[in-house]
Amino acid sequence: MSPTSQPGLLRRFLRWLFSPSAKWSVFALLLLGVVLGFGATVGTQVGVAWSGTNEFCGTACHSHAQFVYPEYQKSAHGHNRTGVHAGCTDCHVPHSYPEKLIYKARAGVRDVIAEFQGTISTKEKFEARRWELANHVWDDMRANNSANCRTCHNPETWDTSKQSEDAVKSHKKFTSGKATCIDCHTGMAHAEPVEPEDAGKADKTKPADDAKAEPKPEAKPAGEEASAAKS
Ligand code: HEC
Ligand code: HEC
Ligand code: HEC
Repeated sequence: MSPTSQPGLLRRFLRWLFSPSAKWSVFALLLLGVVLGFGATVGTQVGVAWSGTNEFCGTACHSHAQFVYPEYQKSAHGHNRTGVHAGCTDCHVPHSYPEKLIYKARAGVRDVIAEFQGTISTKEKFEARRWELANHVWDDMRANNSANCRTCHNPETWDTSKQSEDAVKSHKKFTSGKATCIDCHTGMAHAEPVEPEDAGKADKTKPADDAKAEPKPEAKPAGEEASAAKS
């Protein structure tokens, strides 16, 4: 038996893979492809839907989320007069594909690692990392102009005549692109984390502080500002 007369296992496998099949008709192979594709699509959808329930986020998977859940239930987004509410994923997971799957995959791997390391398994450990976690969320929301908030709150459809003077004035900063929702509205669904003492030197700042730090005259109408400058 010479080595050349018997091709290697890999070579034989490749040849088999690329040669037309005598046993399977093209139709059967296509059908198999369709069935597998359908299964994968439905499986992904079911997985995404199931892993996106408040129960899954708030209790089953993210052990740290159990600390946030009671706060959420007391917030306007979790419990209110009309019962229209926002779930964890409404705010935290991108709504469009493929961003949604990328987010799920990234968060999934990161969360599983964190679960196993137990880095946020107790209330104390969670509180210690809360500021950092919140900053991840703020960074994402500042980067996408608070896209998730805007899926429900569309500034084009809100009735400014029913909003407070303060709100109308502040929202001009959004319309003019000077600030996004999360710059002003933090801690909307659960308690806002407290900035740790040693975070001062880091470049991380609470969005609300940025927005509030703007000098007051900014908010005044142009005419008022001009007259103030004259005097
Ligand atoms: C799934 C839809 C949904 C999403 C997403 C959502 N909201 Fe809301 N939001 C609501 C509803 C519904 C209410 C009204 C609750 C009520 O009736 O008091 C509300 C209320 C508010 C209020 C008034 C709060 C109060 O105490 O009265 C603010 C401010 C607000 N949302 C900002 C935000 C911001 C900022 C985001 C993004 C981080 C966001 N919302 C994401 C649905 C949503
Ligand atoms: C520059 C700061 C600022 C920005 C940016 C901003 N808001 Fe506001 N928003 C306010 C203030 C201030 C109020 C009034 C709060 C009050 O009256 O208690 C308010 C009120 C609201 C309310 C409650 C309105 C009501 O009548 O109860 C909602 C909802 C809201 N904002 C959503 C948003 C959303 C969504 C965005 C982004 C599209 C946004 N805001 C951007 C400052 C801001
Ligand atoms: C209305 C939008 C909204 C909803 C609903 C929401 N979150 Fe958040 N979440 C945020 C924002 C914004 C932050 C960043 C910190 C802040 O501003 O409160 C955040 C931060 C967090 C953090 C980081 C730690 C912290 O407290 O800042 C965790 C964990 C978290 N959310 C889990 C959840 C879970 C679990 C649910 C559902 C039970 C949920 N969130 C529902 C908007 C939301």
